[in-house]
Amino acid sequence: MKLFDLTGKTALVTGGSRGLGKSMARGLAQAGADVVISSRHEEELRKSLRDILEGTDRRGDCIVADMSQRDQVEALARTAIERMGQIDILINNAGSNTPQPIDQIKDADWDLLLEVHLHAAMSLSRALAPGMKQRRWGRIIHISSTFGFVSKAGRNAYSAAKTALRGLARSMALDLGPYNVTVNCIAPGPFMTDLPMSLLSDAEKKQFSDHTALDRWGQPNELIGPMLLLASDAGSYITGTTIVVDGGYIVK
Ligand SMILES: NC(=O)c1ccc[n+]([C@@H]2O[C@H](COP(=O)([O-])OP(=O)(O)OC[C@H]3O[C@@H](n4cnc5c(N)ncnc54)[C@H](OP(=O)(O)O)[C@@H]3O)[C@@H](O)[C@H]2O)c1
Repeated sequence: MKLFDLTGKTALVTGGSRGLGKSMARGLAQAGADVVISSRHEEELRKSLRDILEGTDRRGDCIVADMSQRDQVEALARTAIERMGQIDILINNAGSNTPQPIDQIKDADWDLLLEVHLHAAMSLSRALAPGMKQRRWGRIIHISSTFGFVSKAGRNAYSAAKTALRGLARSMALDLGPYNVTVNCIAPGPFMTDLPMSLLSDAEKKQFSDHTALDRWGQPNELIGPMLLLASDAGSYITGTTIVVDGGYIVK
């Protein structure tokens, strides 16, 4: 399937050490891309990179960077280019969540979520877009959420940031479209990763699966197909939009 072949491309996946980011990085390497992953924890990154590259003949690297720190986000872009030569595919995936009702939001938590989900996505895109424009090929994917369409009590900062990413993708698509660079969001529904598992009670976990049409949580590898569509030539005419991958969560 040449349409999905990423041989000769290099991808940066933030938050690639576990969960959805690790799965997507593995999918990219299996499709032929060299891969850089980032997170805050070096040991976990190194171990994950080995898993991601296993059985492929791809090159990979990992870079420690805290996406809540603007200087570290800028350094991540610079270091990734220095080490890999170029970045053709950017997946803005790193994220966390600290639910707080509107009347209990702490400024520091609000700021952190907006930095990690929204500012970092803009900053990395700003730094990596020029190379993509120059080569007239690029793919930028922001990982939004079904909470960019619907929400749940207490998900104020998270929903605000995930909705904003969809707006950012629309405008970026217009800026970069003339250079054959596409920009899209993926909005995952409930996926079985540390992030929701550490936040939710057993009853809440069941509520999430009951709320999908497929009656179950998604597995991280089920995000690989939609991601590859947007990251490859298979999705060359898709830009400025959001692909929802939620097992039917938002239609129920
Ligand atoms: N799982 C779901 O159901 C779901 C649904 C919708 C959207 N999403 C989105 O999908 C993305 C991935 O989530 P996940 O479920 O895969 O979560 P996860 O398993 O907890 O992985 C999160 C990744 O992001 C990194 N990260 C978190 N905070 C960071 C920071 N400040 N700086 C740098 N890296 C940071 C983590 O590494 P370190 O902690 O080691 O830094 C890890 O690699 C997030 O944007 C999330 O909002 C997930």
